[in-house]
Amino acid sequence: TSKPRLFSGMQPSAQSLHIGNYVGALQQWRDMQDAYDAFFCVVDLHAITVPQDPAALREQTRRTAAQYIAAGIDPAKSTLYVQSHVPAHSQLAWVLNTITGFGEASRMTQFKDKSSRYGADATTLGLFAYPTLMAADILLYGAEAVPVGDDQKQHVELTRDLANRFNSRFGETFVVPEPIILTETARIYDLQNPESKMSKSAASENGVVWLLDEPAKTAKKFKTAVTDAEREIRFDRGAKPGVSNLLTILSSFTGTAMPALEEQYVGRGYGDLKKDVADAVVAAFEPVRARALELLDDPAELDRVLAANADRAAEVADVTLKAVYDRIGL
Ligand code: ADP
Ligand code: NA
Repeated sequence: TSKPRLFSGMQPSAQSLHIGNYVGALQQWRDMQDAYDAFFCVVDLHAITVPQDPAALREQTRRTAAQYIAAGIDPAKSTLYVQSHVPAHSQLAWVLNTITGFGEASRMTQFKDKSSRYGADATTLGLFAYPTLMAADILLYGAEAVPVGDDQKQHVELTRDLANRFNSRFGETFVVPEPIILTETARIYDLQNPESKMSKSAASENGVVWLLDEPAKTAKKFKTAVTDAEREIRFDRGAKPGVSNLLTILSSFTGTAMPALEEQYVGRGYGDLKKDVADAVVAAFEPVRARALELLDDPAELDRVLAANADRAAEVADVTLKAVYDRIGL
């Protein structure tokens, strides 16, 4: 195929993906499938860089893959696989570690955030090396396009530096990738703490709307979403973070642009807005949830799809790894 390559992935770090992952990643991935030769990975090797439970991780990996497919990633069109099934990720990461400066790795802000969140005992060499594993993920496939949240932008920049460094030291080998940063309008905030991003590791269970939540639960979460003491429905992230978040979600699920949406709610109350957002999200999520549960009901078939896709990924990855080994004298 002559389409440009794309790589992206998510960690299997929860039992379900959430509305932010859906709007900020899955929907965008789905829409990019035709223009790119896309590789979508469930990055389980990244998930073990923080404390984790083995049985839960195994289950979460399958559930994450099922949600990719249910949300419209077509495993016959894109390559949808689990990172640890393709050994070249770990192998290339090791090589990249040997051309990465300790000082340059120490500047990664996500490492600083996570090591302070998880504490000294959980701050491992693996967590420190997260960015070089991510660089391997991208470089193995010659990905030109890497859709990421802005928290990952620094890692893609490191990836570019490593690709250029390797190429100039050992000869042209890697494609230098470009980050595709998801727009601020696709950023979803916690329903209970609308100043923080909705996150898999959220403290408030009611603030996160999971893709696999039952519809009644989703409706209840929107009903109890934090707003403000005014009555006016308008988009103002600074003064009205809760209402703005609800408007963002409604806008992205209905396709109605913000000014037109604000217009629709002139003179109406927060209760109306909450109900409309809940209805829109439930309507969109219901078939996705049903499809994911159906896929999870037949684990043997899901595992077969993932194994076939891992083989396809390995075919591409192994060519790159072989070239790299060759360049450096291994
Ligand atoms: P991971 O730890 O696997 O990166 P995240 O949940 O942090 O998992 O992010 C996975 C993807 O989902 C990223 O592309 C990120 O940009 C997107 N994403 C995560 N949270 C949100 C959010 N609250 N709003 C929009 N997009 C989000
Ligand atoms: Na992230």
